[in-house]
Amino acid sequence: MISVTCVAPVNIALIKYWGKRHEDLILPINDSISMTLSTDELCAKTTVTASETFEQNRMWLNGDEVPFEEGSRLTRCLKEVHRLALANGSQKVSPSWKIHIASVNNFPTAAGLASSAAGYACLVYSLARLYDIPLSEELTTVARQGSGSACRSLYGGFVQWHRGALDNGSDSVAKQIASSKHWPNMHVLILVVNDERKKTASTKGMQQAVKTSQLIRHRADKVVPERIAQLTDAIEKRDFQTFAEITMKDSNQFHAIALDTYPPCVYMNDVSHKIASFVHSYNEIMGSLHAAYTFDAGPNACLYVLEENVPELLDAVQKVFPSDSMDSGTYLRGLSVPKVDSTPKIGDVHKTKIDILDINARNAFRYIIHTKVGEGPKELSDNNSLMINGLPL
Ligand code: DP6
Repeated sequence: MISVTCVAPVNIALIKYWGKRHEDLILPINDSISMTLSTDELCAKTTVTASETFEQNRMWLNGDEVPFEEGSRLTRCLKEVHRLALANGSQKVSPSWKIHIASVNNFPTAAGLASSAAGYACLVYSLARLYDIPLSEELTTVARQGSGSACRSLYGGFVQWHRGALDNGSDSVAKQIASSKHWPNMHVLILVVNDERKKTASTKGMQQAVKTSQLIRHRADKVVPERIAQLTDAIEKRDFQTFAEITMKDSNQFHAIALDTYPPCVYMNDVSHKIASFVHSYNEIMGSLHAAYTFDAGPNACLYVLEENVPELLDAVQKVFPSDSMDSGTYLRGLSVPKVDSTPKIGDVHKTKIDILDINARNAFRYIIHTKVGEGPKELSDNNSLMINGLPL
């Protein structure tokens, strides 16, 4: 019996992937760029065990067994890894042995964060470690077939998923633009919004968008290629102004396309819109862009902010969106934030302006997670295993 345990990060898109040109191979209609978040705060963790004595492949997700169905994304990923193992002549474990997989997210599903990206990246990375397959662009094509955005979670820092042109998808790969060390003071506040509405899943939402939205073609053909070039340049130069503007515009365009879908997909709620207004007012008060929002297929906001500006931004967020559980100890999660001192950089005039921002949203968030740019997946030592004797703990 041989076992491997790994963690893999969540990534948040700055230029969104939305729309496929091939459903099964998961080939996108446009390139996308994301930032990988630190696994210290958010991650998926997976243990894969292979044994000659296992009778069938089995998987447990957050403790519950999930079916290993023929033709599923899970089976497809496993087949692809086996193909690479054979091509690599990997000797460590025979691909004929059945495997058991246990996977967990260290963040609640309710947080509505991209759990499938971290989950599939972790699965594929763990299998690659099991069969001794090196991390490569080719491996990203395997993660891509689990969930499109997962291919970007195989690298740390800033990552571009190239749409590729070939029908077999072999050139639809993720590549790192810059490592996490390139812009280490890039931080994120995730505002987890209270919301119980049932939303259209990403896979379905983007299918409908490709079928019915007229705007989506213009986005894929014209807007995204320009933005990819501008954002790559902004990342290289650590130019937060351009980075923030493109990020916010691209989030807005993605939601415009969701609304242009017929019937429309509504992912942002009233609180999300209040957050977007707040960020624009805040930036105006500060005299330059200090924060950038982005929203995925749900109401939660990710605010990008440089480390030195986190205390002031958080202070302003707490003033405009006060919460009764602010002092509960579980409300503000992740990296600690120094309190703004008595002579904050943001002067009294600014403070007053923020106070009078006409946003009145009490208890709008479940909690706030403070995290930062991080590295790609990594293998952990055996004492981190999620299994004992091939079964979940
Ligand atoms: C809005 O990767 O979850 O987060 O490929 O169908 O599994 P599938 O979709 P998924 O879509 C993510 C969409 C997004 C934008 C992004 O991450 O680029």
